[in-house]
Amino acid sequence: MSRRHILAAAPSLALMGCSRAPTASPVIDLPSLKSTAPFPVGVCAMTGHLDDPAWVDLVSTHFSQLTPEWEMKMERLVRDDGTLDFTASDRLADFCADQRMRLFGHTLIWYAQEHPWFQALPEDRFATEHDRYVRTTVERYRGRAVGWDVVNEPVAEDGNGYRECLWSRRFGGVDGYIRRAFDVAREADGEAVLFLNDYNLENNPTKGASYLRLVERLLAAGTPITGLGTQSHLDITIPEGQITAFMRELAGFGLPIHVSELDASLESGRRVDVRSDATRESQQRDRVVELAEAFMALPPAQRWAFTVWGARDSDSWMRLREDGGGPNDRPLLFDDRGRPKPVAADVAQIFAGG
Ligand code: G3I
Repeated sequence: MSRRHILAAAPSLALMGCSRAPTASPVIDLPSLKSTAPFPVGVCAMTGHLDDPAWVDLVSTHFSQLTPEWEMKMERLVRDDGTLDFTASDRLADFCADQRMRLFGHTLIWYAQEHPWFQALPEDRFATEHDRYVRTTVERYRGRAVGWDVVNEPVAEDGNGYRECLWSRRFGGVDGYIRRAFDVAREADGEAVLFLNDYNLENNPTKGASYLRLVERLLAAGTPITGLGTQSHLDITIPEGQITAFMRELAGFGLPIHVSELDASLESGRRVDVRSDATRESQQRDRVVELAEAFMALPPAQRWAFTVWGARDSDSWMRLREDGGGPNDRPLLFDDRGRPKPVAADVAQIFAGG
């Protein structure tokens, strides 16, 4: 446990190991994260959150950037007939404008969303329709979306190689589909920062290395990647230093870096997991602190944004997962009632340059 922890954790230290229930969070008077950090602090959202005053209050206090969690993706935008429905994404964009938050577009092309309408397209229409979808979507939010995850998760799950998908099959391989998406997005918006985004880059050094090699190859070929996204769905059992090592290598490209989807599950997905809640919470704090410190150590021009994948534990996608996560998971900075956890105080202190 880092020094920072011991200072901030004193109240919960006394409770550690006293019961299987989550350690009672000490009352924490957390300064506004967005006011403390010298860079945008982001959160993901869906339109259902906008009708929850407690969520709006928490988010407007602490966050300055918003990523649509799913409603700016193909699964929501593309109707069965190929026309586009921006109702939900427009509502999120309007919320950002009202709250003076930055809007971050997520995500245009993703192996996990091979929409049936695209799958059914004849060969001679595919490229035109792909380009129309990317261009129409990016142009709609030009001047409002400060950046885009143009391509999401191109690296193979285990890090050995890259994912084949509808897009790679239609555009001549991995580099072909990624280049196409970035070129069309760049034509549609000359200002937005264009990101290649992936996960487990810190957790799995093989995958992190494959991502770095892909970025190097794409940039050398002239692909207009202008930002690098590391999702940071952290495995809290990874060795200390692994996160820092990857962030340092990522910084080597000199591009803006987005910690784009931070959460840190307490659940391993293993059938038997004997760790106490106190151990899990301590591991979680250690890894989140390491990530925040590694991000803060970047040159200011590369600290693009630090985004958490949910405001409150109860908002987390992890609660719906069966393979790790689950209904009792507590992966975020604020608990189910929106109360800040000790790890949130750690992050605020780091962002403040403490
Ligand atoms: O809200 C609707 C509900 O009204 C409807 O009845 C139901 C059945 O269709 O769908 C509900 O929407 C679901 C939404 O999550 C809200 O729960 C969508 O179907 C479902 O696809 C969506 O899942 C999202 C997933 O990406 C796929 O888009 C998760 O919220 C989101 O957290 C997850 O986020 C991804 C990132 O984009 C990329 N990195 C990994 C991350 C976690 O998987």
